[in-house]
Amino acid sequence: MRGRKIVVGVSGSIAAYKACELVSKLRQQDADVRVVMTRSATEFVGTATLRALSGRNVACEMFDVCPDEQIEHVSLAEFGEVMIVAPATANVIGKVAAGVCDDLLTTTISAAACPVIFAPAMNWRMWENPITQANVKRLQALGYVFVEPEEGWLACGESKAGRLASTDKLLTAIEKALGIGDSKLAGKQVMVTAGPTREWVDPVRFISNPSSGKMGYALAEEAARRGAKVTLISGPTALPAPAGAELVNAETAEQMAEAVQQHLPGTDVFVGAAAVADWRPVQQADAKLKKSQGAPELKLEATPDIIAQVSASAQRPAVVVGFAAETDDLEKNARQKLDDKALDIIVANDLSAPGAGFGSDTNAVTIFDRDGNSKQIDTTTKRKIAAEVLDSIEQLLGTH
Ligand SMILES: Cc1cc2nc3c(=O)[nH]c(=O)nc-3n(C[C@H](O)[C@H](O)[C@H](O)COP(=O)(O)O)c2cc1C
Repeated sequence: MRGRKIVVGVSGSIAAYKACELVSKLRQQDADVRVVMTRSATEFVGTATLRALSGRNVACEMFDVCPDEQIEHVSLAEFGEVMIVAPATANVIGKVAAGVCDDLLTTTISAAACPVIFAPAMNWRMWENPITQANVKRLQALGYVFVEPEEGWLACGESKAGRLASTDKLLTAIEKALGIGDSKLAGKQVMVTAGPTREWVDPVRFISNPSSGKMGYALAEEAARRGAKVTLISGPTALPAPAGAELVNAETAEQMAEAVQQHLPGTDVFVGAAAVADWRPVQQADAKLKKSQGAPELKLEATPDIIAQVSASAQRPAVVVGFAAETDDLEKNARQKLDDKALDIIVANDLSAPGAGFGSDTNAVTIFDRDGNSKQIDTTTKRKIAAEVLDSIEQLLGTH
């Protein structure tokens, strides 16, 4: 659940207090939780409790301006990878089934593009009421997921079906909606390198390249989304740490190589997306080189070939993926690199293509694998490319 974005809707049922346990359990698994409550729900539990448990402000009112100045019902709907209404009243279920959006919760549900789960809780007669049952069926037919209420002691003093399903069942439904456990990467250890390296000439100058790190960060985030345990070894970038990944900073190729070796034991998949400098100055001046001394003659030496080291290692991960940034002869050069370094997959970047390569939010690549397969992906977001690369990795993992 680490970093997964979950919206928890709470409506006015006596079971609203159980939403506290759900939010707490999600937070214990490092999920990023936002709570939206109906006005009735606040009669049962205080916003302060859910604010403390979720670590974020609780949204209740449609016309409150949220701190980031976005429109709350849209921003909440866009934020969630999954939304769960627990407990869901007969009223909320009926309103959503009828297309009514007269408060923040129902409006958010209406605007949500993510899966929405309802966990009803109500008096057994309310649950058995044919109108409620028809509403549930209508919503199920539209793709909404229901975690059926359980039989047990109800606040009305009877023991019948209507109790909110157990927190474990709610968590299982959330995991299912998020696809956790479905991916071959679930539970696997994935290491990704990203960004440029800096090879210092003197204390104020370095050799580097324009890599932004966006491709590697997108890969790390997508792998974490698929349930992998991700370590991201990153050169200097301006990007925030991706959700769900452990970030390790490294500046030079040497430092990156050391960090990779240190984290290699137990790694199942290695993706070398960093633009590691190939050469570094043989000598680094301790003090700033003076302009007045004239242009220095730089003698360069090769930096460690990180991906070749990983591939040749006794602890070689099951799948080793490299990137090739080429300006000419894309396929020939990429396949050569795949063979030379004994990689399983190489993602070849045509730097001459529009919208591809360094710094851009988009990329166009061809994925070549060791079995001779190739897949061309036209210019699209780095997030989508990351998903394609991870699909190819999953395919290879399936054959191991
Ligand atoms: C003490 C009490 C307990 C209630 N428990 C439930 C319940 O478990 N499920 C339900 O559907 N309605 C329950 N209701 C009725 C709802 O609170 C009422 O229908 C309200 O309008 C729901 O508002 P909401 O759906 O906007 O949260 C309860 C009302 C009271 C006073």
